[in-house]
Amino acid sequence: MAVPVEHRHWHPVALATAVGTAPLAVQLLDQALVLWRDAAGAVQAWADRCPHRGAALSLGCVRGGQLECPYHGWRFAGSGQVVVVPALPDFTPPASHRATVFSCTERHGLVWVRLADDGEAQPPAFAAEDEPRLRKVTCGPYDVATSAPRIVENFLDMAHFGTVHEDWLGDRDHMAVPPYQVQATPTGFLATQCLAWQPKSSLHAQTGAMVEYTYEVNAPYTAVLTKVPDPATVALADFRESIALFVCPVTPESSRVWFRLAMNDFESPDSSLQAFQYTIFTQDQPVLESQRPRRLPISDSAPVQELHCAADRSATAYRRHLRALGITHGVC
Ligand code: FES
Ligand code: CO
Repeated sequence: MAVPVEHRHWHPVALATAVGTAPLAVQLLDQALVLWRDAAGAVQAWADRCPHRGAALSLGCVRGGQLECPYHGWRFAGSGQVVVVPALPDFTPPASHRATVFSCTERHGLVWVRLADDGEAQPPAFAAEDEPRLRKVTCGPYDVATSAPRIVENFLDMAHFGTVHEDWLGDRDHMAVPPYQVQATPTGFLATQCLAWQPKSSLHAQTGAMVEYTYEVNAPYTAVLTKVPDPATVALADFRESIALFVCPVTPESSRVWFRLAMNDFESPDSSLQAFQYTIFTQDQPVLESQRPRRLPISDSAPVQELHCAADRSATAYRRHLRALGITHGVC
């Protein structure tokens, strides 16, 4: 059977700091996973199912750098190999006695998993991550009852600021979205000259102003917004602030979301930056969860078609991007 396209991509599944000494259960594309740290401190992502009798390994524990199943106490090394069967102390388990191990790595403050044996070499890039002049803060997770593509489209959408985020990111008297440019890139697309009126355009602003952004999509469920500094206030805009949206497709109609902020603001505590992001996202969430169908109607033959306007160029580019990847209904 062909490997689903989404299995060939890396997806975020947890905050790196959430994986400690206890096994952690998460889900990706309907696959139950257990995350844990092995003897070397490396994060492991395995099918959350003991190959002996199917118990959830996430109910077990980590002992001496090995994962112990909660049922009969079989112990697994970081390679997935069974190393101890307590009922048979003299038994040396053969190589076939092993857990299902997936590719796993840490990047951008998150744990990333690729379910297919091959596919994309690395998780999606986030250029601002390596810029020391920007401070990094992770916000989330937020669990949302809709498909991952709906959340990406919402992040790319500038036409809802004056309604959903009135007085926060926009207002009803300034809802016009001026024309912007969209160009294909080797891994997705880039939207430039994206202008939005914002009531408080920067930390130092006293009045509303137009703010310019770029939006980049370089993976199925990752998008990056970058603020283009206003030349008039360039002294205040030390460096290009960026926000990455990272979405985990938990199931075809439920998702887990993180934002990675790369900010010039080194003074505010993490908690106030996270509280602002939480406020904005909880304004989006009820609308996102109300959208039907939850799965994005990507293909021309989808049973429900949606209307587009010129302000939706990023969204139509995103749907083209998903189609080009071979994702036709935003599902696994
Ligand atoms: Fe895991 Fe038996 S089910 S050791
Ligand atoms: Co919004």
